[in-house]
Amino acid sequence: MIVTTKKLFEAAYGKYAIGAYNINNLEQAMGLFRGNLDSQAPFIIQISKGARKYSDKRMLEAMIRAADEIFPEAIFAVHLDHGDVETCMDCIQSGFYSSVMIDASHEDFEKNIEITKRVVDAAHARGIVVEAELGQLGGVEEHVSVDESNAKLTDPAAAKEFVERSGCDSLAVAIGTSHGAFKFTGSQALRLDVLAEIQKRLPGFPLVMHGSSSVPQEEVERINKAGGNLKGAKGVDADQFLRAAQLGVTKINIDTDGRLVWTRVHREYFLEHPAEFDLRPIGTIFMSEYAKFIAHKNEKLGSAGQLPAVRAMLSK
Ligand code: G3H
Ligand code: 13P
Ligand code: ZN
Repeated sequence: MIVTTKKLFEAAYGKYAIGAYNINNLEQAMGLFRGNLDSQAPFIIQISKGARKYSDKRMLEAMIRAADEIFPEAIFAVHLDHGDVETCMDCIQSGFYSSVMIDASHEDFEKNIEITKRVVDAAHARGIVVEAELGQLGGVEEHVSVDESNAKLTDPAAAKEFVERSGCDSLAVAIGTSHGAFKFTGSQALRLDVLAEIQKRLPGFPLVMHGSSSVPQEEVERINKAGGNLKGAKGVDADQFLRAAQLGVTKINIDTDGRLVWTRVHREYFLEHPAEFDLRPIGTIFMSEYAKFIAHKNEKLGSAGQLPAVRAMLSK
């Protein structure tokens, strides 16, 4: 069942975070639904602009509709990740997405508010909720590249003003994370102190943490041993997720870790099976490994086991 992120956040606020997972293909979609049902978790499917282009937005949407039929117990939101105005409007008009992110975080404060408000007005008119972003993460995003050393953390006072004036439903905050597999290259760490200040000014308001892959070292070592070259890859400590959730984070974005699972599975398999050229045996292994990865993440997020409670809340 597709629901808005707003509903999921109402259930989660202050207790746990909902996993927001990016998908690009059928194997990820199947693994995602299986992993969330295995762990009895509500979840968010994220579709980026790049994903919509890669396999055609209609193909992705059709896959999600089919998965909704195949797994009728699943409760999830369909969310546009890092949208620009044009893509947000397209998703809002399609009627399929329950949530969009407008990312105008690279603009100045006033322009970010103006762009976000435009999307909020269009989305709210159709019952769709909006995530916005204030502050800048390190690393590379889809349409903006920010040098890690110049990454700008979210200013708590500005966050309050931004939310009030833009009317957004949730806010992605920059608290030290970055996208990709190479986070915290220097002495950086998750700035829970900044998060606490934001929550103080926006009590009860859902916050979002992007760039939250953990980049497990065991995964990186296996990839490198099987011919990969990911030296120095490092991520967010997943044991901090629940603390972040207590401080108002209701959505935690994870993409890179799923890509690492894909890379490890494929590198190891083809190294061990040099004569193999059938795509289904490896696809089957990947779906199973991806499902296990999702279930494990949900344990860390605290969303595992919450599905019955969310279902009960929705039926009231
Ligand atoms: O933050 C970006 C997400 O990891 C999506 O990545 O734009 O390469 O699909 P993508
Ligand atoms: P990671 O690169 O840490 O997985 O972050 C993904 C993300 O923020 C998607 O919006
Ligand atoms: Zn992101």
